[in-house]
Amino acid sequence: MKIMVTGGAGYVGSHALLKLLGANHEVAVFDNFSNSSPDVLERVRKLAGANFRIYRGDIRNTAYLEQSFAEFQPDAVMHFAGLKSIGASNDQPLDYYSQNVTGSIEVLKVMQRHDCRHMVFSSSATVYGECGDLPCDENHSLQPTNPYGRTKYFVEEIIRDWTTSWRDASAVLLRYFNPVGADPSGQIGEDGTDTPNNLTPHIARVAAGLSDRLNIYGGDYDTIDGTGERDYIHVDDLAQAHLAALDYAGQRTGCEAINIGTGLGTSVLEMIAAMEQASGRHVPYVVVPRRSGDVARSVATVDKAERLLNWTAKQGISNMCKTAWDWQTGQHAGKRGLKPQRLIVCDERKSAILETRTLGIEKPRTSSLTAGNAINVDVLCQVSVKPKRTSVIEGWHPRVLQRHAQQAHPD
Ligand code: UD1
Repeated sequence: MKIMVTGGAGYVGSHALLKLLGANHEVAVFDNFSNSSPDVLERVRKLAGANFRIYRGDIRNTAYLEQSFAEFQPDAVMHFAGLKSIGASNDQPLDYYSQNVTGSIEVLKVMQRHDCRHMVFSSSATVYGECGDLPCDENHSLQPTNPYGRTKYFVEEIIRDWTTSWRDASAVLLRYFNPVGADPSGQIGEDGTDTPNNLTPHIARVAAGLSDRLNIYGGDYDTIDGTGERDYIHVDDLAQAHLAALDYAGQRTGCEAINIGTGLGTSVLEMIAAMEQASGRHVPYVVVPRRSGDVARSVATVDKAERLLNWTAKQGISNMCKTAWDWQTGQHAGKRGLKPQRLIVCDERKSAILETRTLGIEKPRTSSLTAGNAINVDVLCQVSVKPKRTSVIEGWHPRVLQRHAQQAHPD
């Protein structure tokens, strides 16, 4: 099949692109590189050993989009192009509606003009809003809690109407839960030019010594340990789901929304522990107030994906963290990279250093370590708080406290 991949240089798009080339599809990429770099596509080319066309432009540039479709004549579109930060969408909702909603309408119009009938759309579990305690199935009500989520919701509805009005068309709306990890080659990964807001890149940065600590947004949720629980899905599994969705769409008409996750919840603390395991480094953290718009728990039901697409996730948290860590510190790390990590454990009043050590590159230099100049010292002062002093950190879940106590005495 001939596939136009909008946003093919982005995080999920580049991994799906690699899979498409591996399956011998003929591919073109349409991307404005607003949060990615053409360099990613060069790496995909080398990895796949296959060539593809690149159209550099914005999907709202109708004339150029039209030209690309006239030249390439795709059979299907994988539509990844869009803005994806919840926080930025609160600040600039109109940019989000313009890029995500207007842009998608342009893509659908051009598809129809060129008799391109099949669409796989990069949607998000964020369309559900709060799912409650139970895993979220595709019939759950759609009540997104932020403008970004609403753009995904609106585009889903627009695509559904498009397939209703054009009887030959088909679409699969893939509702991603939380994509993490990187291609095992270490050549592509999450590489946006914007600062990432999501959890795993942050944890990786802290483990790499590039940030002092992780802010955990809320330790008092009604979850396994008080921190937010999510269904993390390896980006490689997610990319494979796109291939399955393309096959499915290619053989049918109509529109289906399908969750893509593992069906398993992982808390922030569990993710931190998995990254510490994968990296052999320490991830200092502080629990700060909840982030506005966050939900306690978001976990997928995955039987529809299995039933319709014959797809299930294969990879677990440890491999997600391992590949994310390899990407963080590997050959193409660029601004990511790795710094030695110096740890100081001091008593609650910062009056005495109990222990020092260096992880990563350097040997410990105990003489230069004082409470005044040491990185992470504030964090580690907090983590040395013992459970019996719960009064000072009222409101934190007992499991968070337990974990704090363990961190204070890691050996
Ligand atoms: C993410 C995406 C959203 C996407 C959704 C479903 C972002 C900002 N959000 O939302 O676009 O639609 O997945 O795929 O990219 N957390 C911390 N500290 C941090 C960052 C996050 O404690 O520095 C916590 C959050 O409170 C949450 C969990 O980690 O409990 C996951 O957060 P995040 O990675 O941002 O994912 P979502 O909020 O689920």
